[in-house]
Amino acid sequence: MAKEVPHLFFGVENRAQRQAIQEAFARQDVSLVEIAQTDIADVCLVFFTEISAGLCVELRAASRGGLGRVLAVALTSQALARRGAWSLLATGATDVLAWDYSTNPVAEVGARLARWAEVDEIVRSPLVQENLVGHSPAWRRVVRQTVEIARFTDAPLLITGESGTGKELIARLVHTLDQRAAKRDLVVTDCTTIVPELSGSEFFGHERGAFTGAVAARDGAFALANGGTLFLDEVGELPPMLQAELLRVVQEHTYKRVGSNTWQKTDFRLVAATNRNLLDEQAAGRFRRDLYYRMAACLCHLPPLRDRREDILPLVEHFIEKLRPDAPPSLTDAVKDYLSVREYPGNVRDLKQLVTRMLLRHVGPGPITVGDIPEDERPAADFEIPDWRGNGFDHAIHLALQQGLGLKEIGREAEDAAERIALAEAEGNLQRAASKLGVTDRALQMRRAARKQNGSQPT
Ligand SMILES: Nc1ncnc2c1ncn2[C@@H]1O[C@H](COP(=O)(O)OP(=O)(O)OP(=O)(O)O)[C@@H](O)[C@H]1O
Ligand SMILES: [Mg+2]
Repeated sequence: MAKEVPHLFFGVENRAQRQAIQEAFARQDVSLVEIAQTDIADVCLVFFTEISAGLCVELRAASRGGLGRVLAVALTSQALARRGAWSLLATGATDVLAWDYSTNPVAEVGARLARWAEVDEIVRSPLVQENLVGHSPAWRRVVRQTVEIARFTDAPLLITGESGTGKELIARLVHTLDQRAAKRDLVVTDCTTIVPELSGSEFFGHERGAFTGAVAARDGAFALANGGTLFLDEVGELPPMLQAELLRVVQEHTYKRVGSNTWQKTDFRLVAATNRNLLDEQAAGRFRRDLYYRMAACLCHLPPLRDRREDILPLVEHFIEKLRPDAPPSLTDAVKDYLSVREYPGNVRDLKQLVTRMLLRHVGPGPITVGDIPEDERPAADFEIPDWRGNGFDHAIHLALQQGLGLKEIGREAEDAAERIALAEAEGNLQRAASKLGVTDRALQMRRAARKQNGSQPT
């Protein structure tokens, strides 16, 4: 059976042209299925003749903050003149091609679709879903990016993000997804614990008698990681002298043990992590530029929890299930509300610790109640609700205006976001989401149905 791919011709009036494209796909056993609404498809092709405000609205709706993959295909390369491709990327297109630019556009489109499908299948697998929790677009983008890097490249990866955002979790996923035949271990080296005097031995190993106390020969991290992955954690803390020592082995994959003159070869995948901004460190002369570029062939930045609050309750549920697998208690609405607005300076680690503490106090049966929140955690009765507009709201509006969105579109995006977040916080329970949004269940249902019918169409 032919593979079906959702598509949309946006402003392509020429019937013959549309038919020619459909036939070109059909010859490769791909059937293009027309969809009225792009904002529900996982993947979608949008063919267009020129860039217009309407096209941008369509692409933005289809991309849903990066969740949907949209391949924008211009029928002629002229349509992409004057930085057109960039503006389409900015509105949410995953990639942009010109139909007349390539000798085999169907193969180019097909290769992208196949890759995306493969990545998404891994993202949906229990291995990923059960260990890396989060539904927010920001988190899902990170997971998708990690899967792609881990499975389809062997390039070094630098993971950045505040403390407790999941850097080690991501590093472990990269190792797990690595498909090398005869893959060996993941070796974790915490750069904050390396004593400069012993660093040579820690990293490269030593020969017997290389220094006082070296009673036996020993392998270092680079030898142990041979055939596997070396995770250099907190790499931003490496003193300059050690950075210089690492450069060669990271670059050439060769090193000498302390006390030896023989070059050894090692084959490892390098994953490094830091909560520092290494570009700033580099500008300040504290981190070597050459080492940075060696380590950062691929970059993955983990967003802080405050930028993906809709992940809080799913994470809470995940931790409760891990800690009380037999009878995981639910939470009262007051506890949910508190957890959703609390600040988490230590990000997911903070949240995990709070859940652990609540469970220590909880007496079953029944849900976790406000009394289970440890005393030192409790907000004052008149606790100040943080100003919601402060959280990047003005910035988002500013960007939207800059990108040409009007009041109507901004309003609709805000309503859609409120609906999406309320539903996520209510774990898909329509009734609870409606009550949060201050509308009736029926009104919420109708809104969703209306959006399905025509919500994403340019007006
Ligand atoms: N998305 C997630 N799903 C499930 N658990 C998570 C997620 N993100 C983080 N965690 C958990 O939170 C804790 C902190 O994560 P991790 O150690 O990976 O963070 P980190 O960024 O390496 O922190 P640090 O900078 O302090 O070393 C771990 O117990 C981890 O399992
Ligand atoms: Mg860590």
